[in-house]
Amino acid sequence: MQIQAEMEHKYSLNISEIDSFLPRFVHNLKGSEIIALVGDLGAGKTTFTQKLGKLLGIPKTITSPTYILLQEFTGRLTNPKLKNREVRLYHLDLYRTTSFTEAENLGLTEFWGQPQTLTVIEWADKISAHLPKNTITINLKS
Ligand SMILES: Nc1ncnc2c1ncn2[C@@H]1O[C@H](COP(=O)(O)OP(=O)(O)OP(=O)(O)O)[C@@H](O)[C@H]1O
Ligand SMILES: [Mg+2]
Repeated sequence: MQIQAEMEHKYSLNISEIDSFLPRFVHNLKGSEIIALVGDLGAGKTTFTQKLGKLLGIPKTITSPTYILLQEFTGRLTNPKLKNREVRLYHLDLYRTTSFTEAENLGLTEFWGQPQTLTVIEWADKISAHLPKNTITINLKS
């Protein structure tokens, strides 16, 4: 039996729509998803990740990892079938990244898609040719 219906793989939303979009989206996550955030400077990619973190019960406020490139948090899924399963949230910001190799050097391809992880990538369009097929793309419109 499938745990859930397949999620859509492409969404397009505006920063003011994040609050209404996220609860159901997070509810459907089962761990292993890769979420590509695409959109202009200030479109709301970090805001999206912060609100996602809140829904996962991550106590720290997620900040922009622009200078750190990668941050890791621990939260819990809200999917009722998964009983608060623990999940590692990997938050990357590729704004300053110039090659996929740099992203690989952060360990990206080792952790993305692993069970009990969520990988959120700001500026994921920089590595679009390398993203796995089932990546969920969220376009933040400005
Ligand atoms: N509902 C809202 N409507 C309009 N603006 C908002 C709303 N909520 C937050 N903002 C503001 O919009 C901006 C979004 O910035 P955010 O850092 O999330 O964008 P970003 O896409 O991550 O930018 P960057 O490309 O620099 O990483 C912030 O200044 C935030 O305060
Ligand atoms: Mg950002």
